[in-house]
Amino acid sequence: MILRGDCRERMAEMEENSVDAIVCDPPYELGFMGMKWDGSGIAYDQEVWRQAWRVLKPGGYLLAFGGTRSYHRLACAIEDAGFVLHPMIGWCYGSGFPKATNLSKMLDKAAGAERKVIGEPTRHGGGDSQIMKGDYDPPITAPATDAARQWDGWYYGRQSLKPALEPICVAQKPPEGRMVDNVRKWGCGAVDMTPINNIHRRLLKFGIVSDVVDFCHTQKTYMYLSIYVLLG
Ligand SMILES: C[S@@+](CC[C@H](N)C(=O)[O-])C[C@H]1O[C@@H](n2cnc3c(N)ncnc32)[C@H](O)[C@@H]1O
Repeated sequence: MILRGDCRERMAEMEENSVDAIVCDPPYELGFMGMKWDGSGIAYDQEVWRQAWRVLKPGGYLLAFGGTRSYHRLACAIEDAGFVLHPMIGWCYGSGFPKATNLSKMLDKAAGAERKVIGEPTRHGGGDSQIMKGDYDPPITAPATDAARQWDGWYYGRQSLKPALEPICVAQKPPEGRMVDNVRKWGCGAVDMTPINNIHRRLLKFGIVSDVVDFCHTQKTYMYLSIYVLLG
């Protein structure tokens, strides 16, 4: 069943202790592409997480995706609503592009100096997409002024480094009393590691060096998932 609408209102209509798990992708509150929904503050709104806490069964888990610049406020709001925080999961990816401003070019521009083209744009990697081919990259130019030469290779901006991680907050509603009793009453509180262990076996079957597999095994889920995704 899909309930549509404001999650605060929909959750308020639901019975307490009626949900086994919550997986959500709230706004990162960064005003993504000028979108209003990405700047309402809902991800930090106590009411959201208090309602989530109320409807979740004791011992139930909540996973919430967050942005690397706003995760801390999301996690605090979830914790303040009564959840216990577990180590976060990191969704690691290699497809992100930095959005940085070239300081050297800006210095030349501010000085009104023209830069000489000295080469073709570099490729970012393989693949057939135009972005991967570097079609959108400007040609390579040489610094024209002393200041631009001094700061050649330096960048500024809020995303100077290549984005490569999405944090996922892992939170749990505390169990009622002992976990063994809670699980029997509510069916919530423990994590099924069988799929992870199956991936372990599959990696060994692929001939992945066992040291690597063992190392990853100690890192459990998030390292495993990254490798699994890489293997396709
Ligand atoms: C990061 S996006 C999620 C995108 C989604 N995971 C997807 O892949 O399409 C955040 C979403 O939260 C929705 N949203 C914002 N405020 C909300 C609210 N009060 N109740 C329910 N959804 C809300 C926005 O409309 C937006 O679609």
